[in-house]
Amino acid sequence: MNTVTVLFDQSKGTINRNIYGHFSEHIGGVFYDGLWVGEDSTVPNIRGFRKALVESFARINPPVLRWPGGCFAETYDWRDGIGPREKRPRRVNWWYKYDRRVETNQVGTHEFMDFCRMTGARPYVAANMTGVTPLHIRNWIEYCNMPAGLTTLADERAANGSPEPFNVAYWGIGNENWGGGGRMTAEMCAREYLRFMTVCESLPGDMTFVACGPSGHDVNWTRELMRTLAAKNHIPAALSVHYYCGTAGAPQDFTEDEWYQLLRQANRMQNIVDDHRAVMDEFDPDRRTAMFVDEWGCWHRDGTGPSKGYNLFEQQSSMRDAVVAALTLNIFNNRCDVVAMANVAQLCNNLHSLYLAGGDHFVETPNYFVYDLYKTHQGAKQLETVCDCGAWPGDGSPAARPLERVSVSASQAADGSLTVTLANTSMTEPVEVALAGHGGAVAGRATISTLAADDPHACNTFENPAAVRPASVERDFADGDVVLLPPASVTAVRVAG
Ligand code: AHR
Repeated sequence: MNTVTVLFDQSKGTINRNIYGHFSEHIGGVFYDGLWVGEDSTVPNIRGFRKALVESFARINPPVLRWPGGCFAETYDWRDGIGPREKRPRRVNWWYKYDRRVETNQVGTHEFMDFCRMTGARPYVAANMTGVTPLHIRNWIEYCNMPAGLTTLADERAANGSPEPFNVAYWGIGNENWGGGGRMTAEMCAREYLRFMTVCESLPGDMTFVACGPSGHDVNWTRELMRTLAAKNHIPAALSVHYYCGTAGAPQDFTEDEWYQLLRQANRMQNIVDDHRAVMDEFDPDRRTAMFVDEWGCWHRDGTGPSKGYNLFEQQSSMRDAVVAALTLNIFNNRCDVVAMANVAQLCNNLHSLYLAGGDHFVETPNYFVYDLYKTHQGAKQLETVCDCGAWPGDGSPAARPLERVSVSASQAADGSLTVTLANTSMTEPVEVALAGHGGAVAGRATISTLAADDPHACNTFENPAAVRPASVERDFADGDVVLLPPASVTAVRVAG
């Protein structure tokens, strides 16, 4: 019998809520006709934001939302996005050469903060470090965070409708500076970061500045960046890591081989997190630098979403992407002593999205339901697990961890309730798992919610928005009871405290 054992007496600590974070860039259809429809739209909206999306997003308790880029940030001037909307400039933005769409700046700082307030997410502003001066970013911080009446910039914010400061705590200093953000070496990036950060930290407030970390598994970048910063006696508060997995094929049309290929790629997140942390430990043994995996997800061939290519990078999401999300979130939960934030890319009409939207159409993708199933992990105490369900043969790469047939993580909330999340990584075979505790029992009134479909290629579309939906049953659960995991599925077992 396959078994999963929850070790009630072994924990890596609290699962930071921010592991359940999100990312929304000004790219393609993320904002325009995605999150934002405008106040005059016939589409039901709350102060311009798509009402159905606001309400749906709030339901999964989003802890944090990164904005406005990504690469978009590199040519973004925050002053374009404040003041009366009808007077805001139109700009050729970072992505224009790919999609010929002009940035209208209808969503700027105030609108973004409003969206955050409506949904409960804390803002994480990823600021430009390549195309502007440190003073420019410092002024944005002053505009956002200083109390009205203190400075001219704070008064300008108040005059623009927000007397209360936005109190933005997370500031990204640069984005992918190894690539789009200036094609820097790690040493150059560290020096630029210090220049920007020193100017920005001259402002008071409880702020976390995020230095640009590596692309995927590039530990040389991490080592060189940390070494250069350490040589100036600086340990960054946070380091970003970006990792995307993907295959050349379409997200809703894959072979069995491509199913496992993608899941193995996703599973590399374990090595990526562990190996970067090991290098960071060389310079930061006390672990003062937090790891923010602030872009991750599946990156498939684009043009496969409902806009048929109009929205740059828009792709469909199937049950395969949902299993990738579940597997990745289990990895983060189980490394909650290392990963302090993670932001899936991107929220709507883009890569690995939770939503597809356009005009009156609005769809929650299978990824959305994973966040719904996993939300009780947020802020809970992680519990170690032992999974004895076997693993798939490796893909030949010596360092890669085996892809477990069942990916699992567990946590216990302050009220004593237990959440165990399990992803069946088999595309075709169901798995029966006996779920028990050690040092405690998995027993009590349980809600078992399962996200599955008859076909692992299943997606939610504008024509069939409810093809994939979770189903829940309630029952009394005794320690060691069996849970059936359908093929290509995600299950959350919640046992009341
Ligand atoms: O998420 C899309 C793009 O991917 C972001 O703009 C960039 O940071 C990354 O390369």
